[in-house]
Amino acid sequence: DGLAIIVVAAGSGTRLGYGMPKALVPLAGRPILGIALESVARALPSARIIVTVPAGDTELSAIAVAHGAHAVTGGATRAQSVACALAAVDCAATYVLVHDAARCLVPARVITAVVAALAAGERAVVPVLPVNDTVRGVDAQGHSAGTVDRSGLRAVQTPQGFDADLLVDVNRQAGLLELDDQGALTPVNRVADPEGITDDASLIERFARHVPVTLVAGHDESFKITRPFDLVTARAVLEERAH
Ligand code: C5P
Repeated sequence: DGLAIIVVAAGSGTRLGYGMPKALVPLAGRPILGIALESVARALPSARIIVTVPAGDTELSAIAVAHGAHAVTGGATRAQSVACALAAVDCAATYVLVHDAARCLVPARVITAVVAALAAGERAVVPVLPVNDTVRGVDAQGHSAGTVDRSGLRAVQTPQGFDADLLVDVNRQAGLLELDDQGALTPVNRVADPEGITDDASLIERFARHVPVTLVAGHDESFKITRPFDLVTARAVLEERAH
């Protein structure tokens, strides 16, 4: 009904060193994207799902379609991929969630907590975890600039949830989306993202300062598969869930 979820899977996955898009890498015989779409569908069985895929892709698109999702070609950066998906959402959605395919093991309760906060009237919702390591700054020479008080820090996860009109509005203000001659939303091809925009909620903080960004509890299992070690962890989580 009024809920759309964008699953971004248009990254190249070079840090994983598998020679294929990260979302195609298999875990327990199934591609990361398929596992991510099952996690999403379990939590939100009636949501509209839009998957961003790399240009020229056929395999990820086929996985998306097999899961009842729509595939859209993404852009040069994550933010531009989200804009491509937003242009495809059509404005019927009330809420839009944005989720990294690479966080394929996200538990259903994290997704439903984000949706519940939106339903309760929040307009921008981010799942977070406390930071467990001691965090230290570095100066330009690579020398220690001292520790940072970690009690005031949170690590950011996805899915992040938004009032759909708000997310479209800040994407337009950021120059990531524009209206074409027919009045349809279209993504803007850019060389780089606006400075300092590293997640979707940072667009709200930059371009809709009056809107509070609400934090809800994330989960260890929502970690982003980035490096080869993360595959070991992900396989162990799946193994444990199978028992
Ligand atoms: O590279 P990283 O894992 O930080 O990317 C986060 C998510 O954004 C991944 O799921 C990736 O597929 C997606 N992405 C995208 N379009 C890009 C770059 C990344 O959809 N151009």
